[in-house]
Amino acid sequence: MSTPLLFQPIKLREIEARNRIVVSPMCQYSAKDGHVGDWHLVHLGKFALGGAGIVFVEATAVERRGRITHGDTGIWDDAHIAGLKRVADFVRSQGAVPAIQLAHAGRKASMARPWYGNGPLTQQDLDRGDKPWSIVAPTDAALGESWIQPRAFQPGDFQTVLAAYRNAVRRAVAAGFDILELHAAHGYLLHTFLSPLTNTRSDEYGGSRENRMRFPLEVARAVRDAWPAARALFVRISSIDDVEGGWSIEDTVAFAGKLREAGVDVIDCSSGGIAGSATAATRTLVPRVPGFQIPFAERVRKDAGIKTMAVGLILTPQQAEEALQAGAADLIAVGREALYDPNWPLHAAQVLGVDPNMERWPLQYGWWLTRREGLLKKLGLRK
Ligand SMILES: Cc1cc2nc3c(=O)[nH]c(=O)nc-3n(C[C@H](O)[C@H](O)[C@H](O)COP(=O)(O)O)c2cc1C
Repeated sequence: MSTPLLFQPIKLREIEARNRIVVSPMCQYSAKDGHVGDWHLVHLGKFALGGAGIVFVEATAVERRGRITHGDTGIWDDAHIAGLKRVADFVRSQGAVPAIQLAHAGRKASMARPWYGNGPLTQQDLDRGDKPWSIVAPTDAALGESWIQPRAFQPGDFQTVLAAYRNAVRRAVAAGFDILELHAAHGYLLHTFLSPLTNTRSDEYGGSRENRMRFPLEVARAVRDAWPAARALFVRISSIDDVEGGWSIEDTVAFAGKLREAGVDVIDCSSGGIAGSATAATRTLVPRVPGFQIPFAERVRKDAGIKTMAVGLILTPQQAEEALQAGAADLIAVGREALYDPNWPLHAAQVLGVDPNMERWPLQYGWWLTRREGLLKKLGLRK
């Protein structure tokens, strides 16, 4: 029997991942002034121990004003490098590829942590010391009533933010990451430039699709230029806005083609978030069912001729393997499934029959677990 695709290594430029399972970037809102700490090391370290091929550090702000909340991780200062390096080194030491998502929250910056309401900062947040800050976006339209109003991007802002991305890339190199992802989804800065719902600028950065793609493409090119040629670059997009009159899958295919020309290696196909949360359970156009975003990854892979990562309610190893076998994607990202079971990849290897002797487990665990399996068999508790 040949190895399931999910467990075949994949080479992205000079970077090789041991399998196709990726732990999706997931904000922990637990950093202090942007610094990752012990929480992040253990949180991400356990996914590397759990057998993932690639482990992503959450959306990490390239500018202080680009944080979603006060608890976001940051890469706007050289002082952030040491903590990130500690995470990247440990992830690599356990056989996984360390990756990081670079982000700028745009008009979704300066909000409350999810467990404090996931909305605009309230008096209670202020009392906790979480004060609002000035934010920027393509236009001065706020996310909604009672949300903080952004200042519309001025000519100088483009250069400032581009420089912030370039410096962030330099720091990501110093921290030892092998994969970089640009966050251009979920209603954050780059997505709001793309979407006609949020970009109503009348200059060369707004209006036509070409104009709306201009700044995100400038960022992608600047990042590719600063990121070593041997290392892989991903871009996460919202494949559709899922709102009438919004960014469409045809727009995504066109954007993905331009990103490929700019030297991007993988399109990470998420969706939604332009007006509210990307993980909200209610959507207007596309029903949320297991694997509901896989068709977007398939369409981009086929029509734009670029590798894709599928994500979103991918629950079982069989479902992941089917998506790869169908040619819908090259990589499978798991988010909440990994929170629920950090050993998801190791368990998937057992389910798909590629690790009968638990050789993929860390040595410190596998030795014991194979003996436990033997005992459970003897007791008639295993087939
Ligand atoms: C706790 C949490 C934090 C998240 N933070 C990010 C993030 O930093 N960047 C991002 O692009 N998506 C983020 N997401 C979305 C996930 O990466 C993923 O796309 C989404 O949860 C769907 O996959 P799942 O059904 O496997 O969880 C987050 C999701 C969760 C649950």
